[in-house]
Formats: sequence, C-alpha cells, structure tokens
Amino acid sequence: MDQYQYIVKGGNSLSGEVEIAGAKNAALGILAASVMTGETVTVKNVPDVSDIRAILKTIRTIGARVERVDRHCYRINGSMINRKSTVDNDDVREIRGSYYLIGALLGRHRYAAVAQPGGCEIGKRPIDQHIKGFRALGADVSLVPPGMVVAEAEVLRGTHIYMDVVSVGATINIMLAAVLAAGQTIIENAAKEPHVVDVANFLNSMGANIKGAGTDSIRILGVDQLHGTEYSIIPDQIEAGTFMFAAAVTRGDVTLRNVIPRHLDSISAKLREIGCQIHESDDELRVVAARRLGSANVKTLPYPGFPTDMQPQIAVLLGLSSGISFIHESIFEHRFEYVKELTKMGAHITVVEDKTAIIEGVEKYTGAILISPDLRAGAALVIAALAAEGFSEVGEIHFIERGYEDFPEKLRRLGAEIDIVETEAEKRAFMRRVI
Ligand code: EPZ
Repeated sequence: MDQYQYIVKGGNSLSGEVEIAGAKNAALGILAASVMTGETVTVKNVPDVSDIRAILKTIRTIGARVERVDRHCYRINGSMINRKSTVDNDDVREIRGSYYLIGALLGRHRYAAVAQPGGCEIGKRPIDQHIKGFRALGADVSLVPPGMVVAEAEVLRGTHIYMDVVSVGATINIMLAAVLAAGQTIIENAAKEPHVVDVANFLNSMGANIKGAGTDSIRILGVDQLHGTEYSIIPDQIEAGTFMFAAAVTRGDVTLRNVIPRHLDSISAKLREIGCQIHESDDELRVVAARRLGSANVKTLPYPGFPTDMQPQIAVLLGLSSGISFIHESIFEHRFEYVKELTKMGAHITVVEDKTAIIEGVEKYTGAILISPDLRAGAALVIAALAAEGFSEVGEIHFIERGYEDFPEKLRRLGAEIDIVETEAEKRAFMRRVI
C-alpha cells in the first residue's frame, strides 16, 4: 500500500485551460515498435507517466539505447538488441503494454520471449487472440516456462486473420509482427481505436505498408525492413475525457488544449445529451456545465462507441445528475470495483451481475476516505472528491500515476484544492491552508 495519497477539498468549480498529454496506450505500442529497426527513432509527445517509464526501462534492459531529449521526447536505437533477449522483469509483469514486445521482437528477430503482461485488474484479460494471430503468421507460440510467452518462427507469412473479439492489444500486436512478414496480412474485425491508427501511422513512417487502420479490416503488405523516423504521438483521448467529466461534475468551464475533438465524439455526445455545452475547434474543446445535469443510458463499446476507460468517470457524473441512469459494461468483467467507494460518499448505485449499474442521482457527495481500485476508477474517485462536500483522501494513487501526467498539478491549475501528502502533519497543513 502507498504511504502517499491525494487529499482533496471538494466544492470548487474547475475553470481555465488544461494541456492534454500524449496518448499512453499509443505510446506503449509505438515505443515497443521503435526497436523494430536498427536505425534511430525519435518519438515526441511521449507522456511522462509510470507505465511509459516502465516500457522505456524494459527496452533499455534488452539492449536498446534510450536517450531522453526532453521530458516528452526520446531518441531510441535498437541496433544492439540481442536476437535471443528474454524480456522479463518486474516492470514487464506490472504493465499491460509490455505484450507489444512479443509482436515487435517476433517481427524483427523471429523470436520473442516475454513475461506475461500485468496491468489493471479489470477482468480476465486473456491474450488468446494475440497468440492466435502469431500462430496464423507461422510462429510457434508456447507458454512454457510458466509465466512466459515464447514465440518463434523460421519465416512469418502473411495471412488472413479473423479476430473473434475486437481487441486493441491483439490488433496492434499482430500488426507489429505482420509488417515484417512475407506477403499480405489482412486483419478482419480489427479494433478501430485512435491508438491503433497512431501505431499504424508510426509504422508506416518507418517504411511499413499498412492500409485501413481505423476500419475493421486492416491490410498489411510485409516489407523487408523498417527504418528510422521522427514521430509525434496523438493526444490522450482518455485523459482528455477525464478532464471533460471533471469539468462537468464540478459545474465548471474548462478548455482542453492539444486534443483531437473527433476522438472524443462519443464522450461529447453523452455530455451534450445530459445538458452540457461542448464547443470544439481544431485542437481545442471547451466544456461548460452551468447546472445539474440529466440522466443517461450508457453502454461501453469498442471505438467509436463509448470507451470502457471512461465508464467510472461518467458514473461519477451520473451519480450526481437528476433521475435514474443505467451503465452497461460490455468489455471487461470487473469494472465496477469503485462503486463501493462512491457509496461511502453517498452515491446510490446498484450493480447487477457486475455488468450493469443502476444509478439513482443524489444531490451531493460527501468527502470520504477512498481507495483507487485501478487507473481509471482511481481518476474517477478523484473527480468525485472534487465535487464532494468536505475533505476526501484517495489512496493507492500509484494506479492513477500509471496513466495521468501531473494529475494533481493540472487540477490545481484549474482551481481544485488537491495535494499529495505522505504524513498526518502534511495532511493537517493542507487542511489549514485550504479552510
Ligand atoms: C487496451 O487493453 C487498453 N490497454 C485498456 O486501457 C483498454 O481498457 C482496452 O484496450 C479497451 O479499450 C492498453 O492499450 C495497454 P482489449 P487490452 O484487448 O488491449 C477481450 C487503461 O486504463 N480479449 O481491447 O488489454 C478482453 O478480455 C487500460 O488505459 C480476449 O478475449 O484490451 C476484453 O473483454 C485499461 N482475448 C476485450 O477483448 C484477447 O486475446 C477487449 O480487450 C484479447 C482481448
């Protein structure tokens, strides 16, 4: 358990401007892919969050040279990576995105031995579709020794793969291996998330030939090798959405800078539906919520549907809206762990079979001592605390630090009262300061 936690005094409306960081889930794929060439790759707009530090450390441990140009820009050279590297350390097992090293190394070296990925505990999270794709390309894949994924091939041959479920991770991973396979690969029922497109654009900038990313049919014509490139990662759709809900729940007026409004359409549509104003321009989006919002029905779906990664955040908002709302989680099995925390704050939410939340909006939340169950739910609890009456403490914030850069600082700049504290004395000092 963390010693340090957030302390929040709720009640302030957020207002002002916030700069959105690069997309964590795109960066994980792109940084893994950056070792698929011996030439130097420069990646910009890399978010400074703990999952990204973990993947950078991992590619360093297998021999890549990783030079930090500035806080958000890295120069990576994978020429020294050993063909038979085993990718296994605490960081690999901690994060989900480490599984992209299977596709990347299998593509480049025809061999990958990578520890099974970790990540937030939000459901079973199997990798059978990744393995099915690698096998279809001609790799032998074994889960021996236990806890490892070992994939090996004499040659990788392009093929036609139909995904049984729409999976972001499997789509990206198969794409990584297929760009260096012989001939054409077609991935049907592919994920269409913006980060799938971003990884494809990055690979194309390295000389790959990928068409159709962003549709459910991706066509990849294998090339012999990839080359160096310079690339800037797209803005983080989920960080942006989290600030949109933070603005709405505190009845604020917040402008998000460095966003792609089109990636946020499903979130903007829901917010408009319940009474928020959303103003969009090229790379900015403003959320204004002047009053209590209405109820809604939400079903999480693969992109362009409403993202599962925004489900806890919208629940926090609907918990304070008028009327009864329903949220149906269709992607992961255990994504309502935060409900018992919100209940401590006075929310009226019933979860049926871990799939559907029935939310009866209440007038207010009251501050409470809260524990983050995972990354997105942790961020959602913070925004609940911003709207609550009185003080809240949010523990296990290492989850939140996996995916949100400078979260308390950005919120403070919008007028929130939030700080990281480690001791009782620091907590009391915060309370004295903000009362
Ligand atoms: C990615 O996870 C993201 N993680 C998740 O973000 C996100 O919630 C999820 O996509 C859905 O958008 C990363 O990009 C690192 P999936 P991933 O494969 O790739 C099933 C966050 O907070 N499935 O799209 O693991 C799976 O069980 C994190 O940033 C299989 O059955 O998700 C789920 O029901 C949390 N077999 C569905 O597909 C497989 O082989 C979608 O999972 C793979 C997946």
